[in-house]
Amino acid sequence: MADPAVIRIRAQSNSSVVESIWASRPADLYDGSRRDRFATALWGVRTLFGGFASASRWDPSRVSPVRRTHLATVVGRELVAPDVVALTLADPDGGLLPSWTPGAHIDVHLPSGRRRQYSLCGRPGRRTDYRIAIRRIADGGGGSVEMHEAYDVGDPLVFEGPHNAFSLGMAEPDLLFVIGGIGVTPILPMIQAAQQRGTHWRAVYAGRSRDHMPLLREVVSVAPERVTVWADDERGRCPSVDDLLDGAGPTTAVYVCGPTPMLEAVRAARARHAHAPLHYERFSPPPVVDGIPFELELGRMGRVLSVPANRTALDVMRDSDPTTAYSCQQGFCGTCKVKVLAGQVDHRGRAGEADDEMLVCVSRAKSRRVVIDG
Ligand code: FES
Repeated sequence: MADPAVIRIRAQSNSSVVESIWASRPADLYDGSRRDRFATALWGVRTLFGGFASASRWDPSRVSPVRRTHLATVVGRELVAPDVVALTLADPDGGLLPSWTPGAHIDVHLPSGRRRQYSLCGRPGRRTDYRIAIRRIADGGGGSVEMHEAYDVGDPLVFEGPHNAFSLGMAEPDLLFVIGGIGVTPILPMIQAAQQRGTHWRAVYAGRSRDHMPLLREVVSVAPERVTVWADDERGRCPSVDDLLDGAGPTTAVYVCGPTPMLEAVRAARARHAHAPLHYERFSPPPVVDGIPFELELGRMGRVLSVPANRTALDVMRDSDPTTAYSCQQGFCGTCKVKVLAGQVDHRGRAGEADDEMLVCVSRAKSRRVVIDG
């Protein structure tokens, strides 16, 4: 059942009411130390009816259209590893959620104004409910901690999507899934779909111990003989890339999702097979490649930030203002897009950047200085 507070407020979707809710948000939503379900409900309504509104000065709504958001209710909450919580989401009115395919993710709009992306890890294509799983990263950007603390059964959750940038190929006859820890979330539905289709597949699932490998039992239960479980505490060491790719032939399609060192090792090893499909999804930003230092001028604030060769403009902006809006940090969600007032941008994103726009998580400058509307 939806929280009664949500139903009541939805019935009076009046912008002045909603704006006053925004202005009077409780302080503990920023503290993250104590849940406030009523506040979470109100925040959900504000986000649903107002589109995404960032707490940042670099509000992406200035350059991006308001996107379609959906309201769900948290109907299940379960710890699937000591630091991983799985949330089950359903339509508040009992309807079907939007369709999706394995590898898809949703963009969750958190009560603080953060946006974070989480892969759907329920049964492939299931629309009566979604499942997402979140690893708590205590020293991260705060999104995962907030996901753990802000939502309980009965709470509303606002999301966009689903979107899929990591889809399972239909015509690949031989698949190897390489999984590292929480990287299991997009891959579990892929494995289930491959099994249903009768495609030949194998999986290697690596983690520090079985206890810390979320959804392991579900992966193994699909076809135990096809899954290699690599628990470091049992084998005495981390897997090498040869262990991860054992048995992969020159035409095997490899799907990998896990920590950056694992992903980069697999990418490098598979580079010798130019015609073998390699699909991957990152959970952390890619390293800056061919970075040249530049200056970022925040036009309205009159400040100039120095972006070094090995850091992104987003990193530097977050140093200056921790509330700067971002989500994927990989140039495809559009959350960090800003308006460019002067200077030439080296566009590196995939979310579509006009000449006068910049995805500050990946794009850089061709000129010495870029001036943005910030
Ligand atoms: S944070 Fe997603 S495009 Fe920059």
